[in-house]
Amino acid sequence: MDESQAMRRALDLAVRGWGRVAPNPMVGAVLLRDGEVIGQGHHAEFGAPHAEVVALADSHDAAGATCVVTLEPCSHHGKTPPCTTALIEAGVVRVVAATSDPTATGGGGAAWLTDAGIEVEVGLCAEEAAALNAPFLYGANGDRRRPFVALKLATSLDGFLADRDGRARWISGPESREFVHWLRAGFDAIGVGRRTAVIDDPLLTVRGPLEPRVPPLRLVFGRGGEFPSELRLFDTEAAPTAVVTSPAGAVELRETLAHTPVRVFGADGLAASLASLKEAGIASILIEGGGALAAALLEEELVDRLYWIQAPIFLGTGVSAFGPRAGIPLDGASPWVVIERRSLGRDTLLVVDRALCLQG
Ligand SMILES: NC(=O)c1ccc[n+]([C@@H]2O[C@H](COP(=O)([O-])OP(=O)(O)OC[C@H]3O[C@@H](n4cnc5c(N)ncnc54)[C@H](OP(=O)(O)O)[C@@H]3O)[C@@H](O)[C@H]2O)c1
Repeated sequence: MDESQAMRRALDLAVRGWGRVAPNPMVGAVLLRDGEVIGQGHHAEFGAPHAEVVALADSHDAAGATCVVTLEPCSHHGKTPPCTTALIEAGVVRVVAATSDPTATGGGGAAWLTDAGIEVEVGLCAEEAAALNAPFLYGANGDRRRPFVALKLATSLDGFLADRDGRARWISGPESREFVHWLRAGFDAIGVGRRTAVIDDPLLTVRGPLEPRVPPLRLVFGRGGEFPSELRLFDTEAAPTAVVTSPAGAVELRETLAHTPVRVFGADGLAASLASLKEAGIASILIEGGGALAAALLEEELVDRLYWIQAPIFLGTGVSAFGPRAGIPLDGASPWVVIERRSLGRDTLLVVDRALCLQG
């Protein structure tokens, strides 16, 4: 196996930490000696050993090996000792990392390794690794005033989220719905617009084989419109819920929901709403529609990633996935970066990013 193949395997290993390691990044590592894999591992749980340490333990003897890892090895004592020390003590001679660690605490490992006489190369499969850890890298930049925002929409081929009667269940097939439960597990919060909350009365919980380390906060975005108090989202036994609405709407809603643990945020507009969520510790949000909320977020350039599930049906008319928006001239439309395209049963998943968060 060469280093590129080892990095692809390390990326596949890293993603096994989805839903379990945040706020840490997902990391995978493969140890190579003479083209043979002698150890591999991934960061499996927040607070548990890092990928490099797991791979070293897997190899028993890594003297003379190359460590191929999806993120620059950390150089600090956190919940576990620094990976750089473990690699040096194990006699690793070369480290190939996909991306640098931009955090003040974890970064600087490459220089530390170089000082210890280890050959270090950073940048192999950098775009894939940055896409994998986009929410982490986004948040690592201290200037960010809002969480990483991903939009997930399931539509017909002609771009409708629901039919002409507002029915959305089920546009997508069972494989897509299973994927969405896996996807939810990796976000701090799952959000919908007020009309979706009222029309669909969704649970917005994670109900798949992957149990998230922390159940995502369920979020509803309103601007002062009314909520029936019997919505399933307001039963917080399964997961916490918060509503973000206008400052005036928040005053009213706090009274209505006073007897429940539902949190109510009052903010003017989506950017301010997202900023208050960031201040409350939410680093990533998956917005699941509907179309009005999706369009408003796109209009204000508040979407970092789109997970678009296309079902092979036409609906002719219905709830538009991307709502009415101002026109963008063709020569002003910047292309989004394709991260992934694959089948989910009969449906097609397209994942696109506004821009890779390589530099955070
Ligand atoms: N297929 C799918 O993936 C999917 C996913 C979700 C929903 N759906 C379907 O989509 C339909 C609902 O979608 P929808 O487009 O009618 O409504 P929506 O996007 O779910 O909710 C719209 C509401 O969001 C609130 N909001 C907050 N900030 C906003 C802003 N800046 N701009 C616009 N709205 C903002 C407003 O609440 P206020 O009224 O308080 O102002 C607005 O009425 C339902 O039929 C549902 O079944 C399908």
